[in-house]
Amino acid sequence: MNGFPERRLRRLRRSAGVRRLFDEQYPGPERFIWPVFLTSGSKVREPIKALPGLFRYSQDACVDELHNVVNQGIGGILMFGVPDATCKDAQGSAAADNEGLIPEAVETVKSHFPDLPVFTDVCLCAYTNHGHCGPLDQNGCVDNDAASDWLARVALSHAQAGADGVAPSAMMDGQVARIRQALDQYGFTQTCLMSYSTKFASSFYGPFREAEQSSPQEGDRQGYQASYRQSRQALLESLLDEQEGADILMVKPALLYLDIIAALREKTLLPIAAYNVSGEYAMLKALADHGGGNLADMVRESVFAMSRAGADIIISYWAHRYNELIRGSST
Ligand code: PBG
Repeated sequence: MNGFPERRLRRLRRSAGVRRLFDEQYPGPERFIWPVFLTSGSKVREPIKALPGLFRYSQDACVDELHNVVNQGIGGILMFGVPDATCKDAQGSAAADNEGLIPEAVETVKSHFPDLPVFTDVCLCAYTNHGHCGPLDQNGCVDNDAASDWLARVALSHAQAGADGVAPSAMMDGQVARIRQALDQYGFTQTCLMSYSTKFASSFYGPFREAEQSSPQEGDRQGYQASYRQSRQALLESLLDEQEGADILMVKPALLYLDIIAALREKTLLPIAAYNVSGEYAMLKALADHGGGNLADMVRESVFAMSRAGADIIISYWAHRYNELIRGSST
């Protein structure tokens, strides 16, 4: 008895009860990390136009919002700084200020939520006046090793403030090893390193760059972020970061690169994070807003796909709405 008409797969789809016996689980809230944008001031909750439903928060307003995140059992947060334009310079030096936006916010958040894992984005693009992810050399290219030195200082300032993990996203060669060495040298041997290890030069970061005010003034990021047309090198990027001491690898964007997540899953024993980026969020939001689909259904299908591809954790702008969008109808 091999095929039709004896074998009918629809038997196992006949009723919700039968389907439920075999359906795999949606990833739980503990698998999600919520990216959050921090700005200066107090009581600030500023809507981000390109990411409808998301806000830039001052520290105090962020703490207020995090009650809702923690109550849903979300796994952690990933902090991004949106500094005042006046702080920006050619090096992005304000990113490494020990009393800067992110170190202060980390301290505040950890004092209110000591058990919430707090990761910080480690990059310079929101802090440089040219919008690239590191200082430029005479040719106008990002100076790889100078950038790595700065990134190590940024990571240290976050670790000192009590971040559980730092997440370098600049795609400099050797940045993971450089940061690990600096952390260890200053005694932060327990600070976890989540590398944006396979980060593509993608057109789907647009809404984020509006949120962060971090678009390059000139040129693009193809000289440092990975080409989506070179699959083997994309995997090599992650495997090298594993060798350099990353604790968690990442594929970014996620939905357009499920094949890369699945391929990486075969090649590493480290945890893999999928970054469900701003453009992917905005696509679903726009489709739902235009009556093209039910938002919760689309979110659930897409987060399930990321976990099926092999992602252990999902960095997602939907995370703070877990109960409403994912848990709500997951039976
Ligand atoms: C910083 C950084 C970016 C994102 C995360 N960290 C933007 C970029 O590289 O241009 C994108 C996140 C998103 O689109 O959701 N380098």
